[in-house]
Amino acid sequence: MRDREQDWSHEWTSKEIAEITAAVDTVQSKGLDILHIRATDFPLPTAASRLADIRNYLLEGPGFYFLRGLPIADWSLERAAIAFWGLGAHLGQACSQNGKGHVLGHVKNLGLDYGDPMARGYQTNARLPYHTDSSDIAALLCWRAAKSGGLSSIVSSTTLYNEVLARRPDLLPVLMQPFHRTRWGEVPEGKLPWAEIPVFMPKDGRIIAHYVRSAIRKGQLIGGVPPLTDAQTEALDFVDSLAQDPDIHLDMTFRPGDIQFVCNHYTMHSRTAFEDWEASEDRRHLLRLWLACDGGPALPHWMTESYEGKTRNGRPNGIVVPGVALNAPLEAV
Ligand SMILES: [Fe+2]
Repeated sequence: MRDREQDWSHEWTSKEIAEITAAVDTVQSKGLDILHIRATDFPLPTAASRLADIRNYLLEGPGFYFLRGLPIADWSLERAAIAFWGLGAHLGQACSQNGKGHVLGHVKNLGLDYGDPMARGYQTNARLPYHTDSSDIAALLCWRAAKSGGLSSIVSSTTLYNEVLARRPDLLPVLMQPFHRTRWGEVPEGKLPWAEIPVFMPKDGRIIAHYVRSAIRKGQLIGGVPPLTDAQTEALDFVDSLAQDPDIHLDMTFRPGDIQFVCNHYTMHSRTAFEDWEASEDRRHLLRLWLACDGGPALPHWMTESYEGKTRNGRPNGIVVPGVALNAPLEAV
C-alpha cells in the first residue's frame, strides 16, 4: 500500500472543488441546519460518483481512503464543517460519537488526562494505540495540524488476524472470545456499563474486528467485570506488537484540508503523541464523522445487539444515550 498511494488517495481537482464550494454556498443560502443536510441537499454532479467509488473501496475493498486538498485555508470552520458533512452524507448517515449526542465530533486536546477512566483519547494529546471506532466508517477532516507529532497510522485488522493465525495460532481462540470493555459512562438504554465483544469475529467470509485496548483496561475497574486471564493479556499484547510492526502498519501525515476515511470493521487506526501550538485557535483540531452506511457488511450480533443499537438503515448507531438529542457543535466541548 505504501507503493500504491494512487490507489487509496486522491487530490481534489479544481472542478470538484468548484462543485463542493457551490454545494456549500447552496446550503448556506438556504440557511440549512448542518444536522439536516442530506446528500440531496449537497449536489455534486461529478464528485458524487467518485464518492460512490470510495464508499465501495471502504466497505468492499481495503477499508481506508485519503482525500487531499480541500481549500479550507480561506474558509470559516462552519464552512469546512458543512463541506465535510455534505461529503459524508454521500457515504452514510452521521451517528452519535459520545454520550452528549455529538454527530459532528471534534478531536482536540482539551487537557484531559488519558489515565482518567472517563476520559476519551480524542480529548487528550496522548499517543493513541491502534483501535477501532464504533461505526461503519470514521472520517476525519484536518482543520489544524499539530506543531509536531500527531501522525496518523492505520493497520488492516484482517492482516492482524492472518498474522496471529500464522505466528501464534494458539492465541486466536482467545481473541475470538468476548472481552469486557467499558462504555466510559455513556450507557445506552437497557445496557450495562460494559459491553462484551471479541476482537476478531468471522462473518460471511470476512473478519470483522473491534478493538479498544484502553476500553478493555478501563473495563477492569468496573465492579462485576471478571479479571483478564494471563492468556487474554498475552493475546492482546501480541496484537499490539503486531500492529506496531512498520512492515504491517501505514503512516500518513495530515495537512489542513485532508480527509481520512477508515472502515472500522477492517481497519484499526492510531496516532502518535503530539506537541501543540500555544494559542487555542492554532491547536491541532480534527473534525470527525461516524457514518452508518447502506450496504455495509453483515455484522455479528456482538456488534449490533450486545454493543450498540441500530440506525434507521439498520447499521450500528454509535453511542446513543437515553434523553440526549443529536447535535452538531461547531467547537470542541
Ligand atoms: Fe479513533
